[in-house]
Amino acid sequence: MIESRRVDLTAVPDGERTAQLSLQLTGDGPLAVLIHGFPLDHRMWTDVLHGELRHRRTLCAVDLRGHGRSPWSGDPVHTMQRLADDVAAVIRSLGDDPVDACGLSMGGYVAFALVARHPELVRSLALTNTRAAADSEAQREGRDRAIEAVVADGRAAFADGMIDKLLAPDATPLHRAQLRTMIETQPVETILADLEGLKQRPDRTSELAGIRVPTLVVAGEHDQVTPADEMRSFAQQIPGARFEVIAGTGHMSPLEAPEAWSAVVAGFWQ
Ligand code: MLT
Repeated sequence: MIESRRVDLTAVPDGERTAQLSLQLTGDGPLAVLIHGFPLDHRMWTDVLHGELRHRRTLCAVDLRGHGRSPWSGDPVHTMQRLADDVAAVIRSLGDDPVDACGLSMGGYVAFALVARHPELVRSLALTNTRAAADSEAQREGRDRAIEAVVADGRAAFADGMIDKLLAPDATPLHRAQLRTMIETQPVETILADLEGLKQRPDRTSELAGIRVPTLVVAGEHDQVTPADEMRSFAQQIPGARFEVIAGTGHMSPLEAPEAWSAVVAGFWQ
């Protein structure tokens, strides 16, 4: 059974603004927090929540502010730091123990910010389909073009441009439809605030050697957004990190191959 909960973040110490976050909880054992990518929500973890990992951990799939069932907070920029502070508040609301943090792509950027800002809350990191580097100048310009395109042409056109990049070439119609539904149902304000935050995110490369928790890095064989070679190279800079590639998947490995992806994470969460 999956339980839905809401956490009120009015108590975040530095928060001039308040937010409410929605969580999906299932399973038994120590807490693991799953952080979705851009511009998605907890639904990207649906098959993972129903799979073998729930027998090893209490899985908590967060909807970051403005995504999924979490209302938009009015914040025009979703910095990775702010999103990480939100996740920290969620973790504190669920208990005192450090958690296994797992993030995909933008969720990975949030996980990097979480371990940097709240190291006492993280006991392991699973970084999937993500990168440590900041945006290049060309990527920042691409974010600006995306902002203009979302405003001019709307979410459906934005989804059209994204789906092929997110999935492996032989993606199923169901996976395409799942992504389209998620992208088209995020508030346009959320998409814009995410794009600004992604553009501004810091480079974490110099922090990799200082990561002290067990770390798993998982890549998709056909990932065009965060290629496996780039992921292997940043994994090699994290002391003792494991690196795995999920065959046949693109940028959405946990959604495209939930069983293979979960088996790799289960091996790490022994
Ligand atoms: C994501 O999947 O979260 C995004 O592709 C991240 C990004 O654009 O950098």
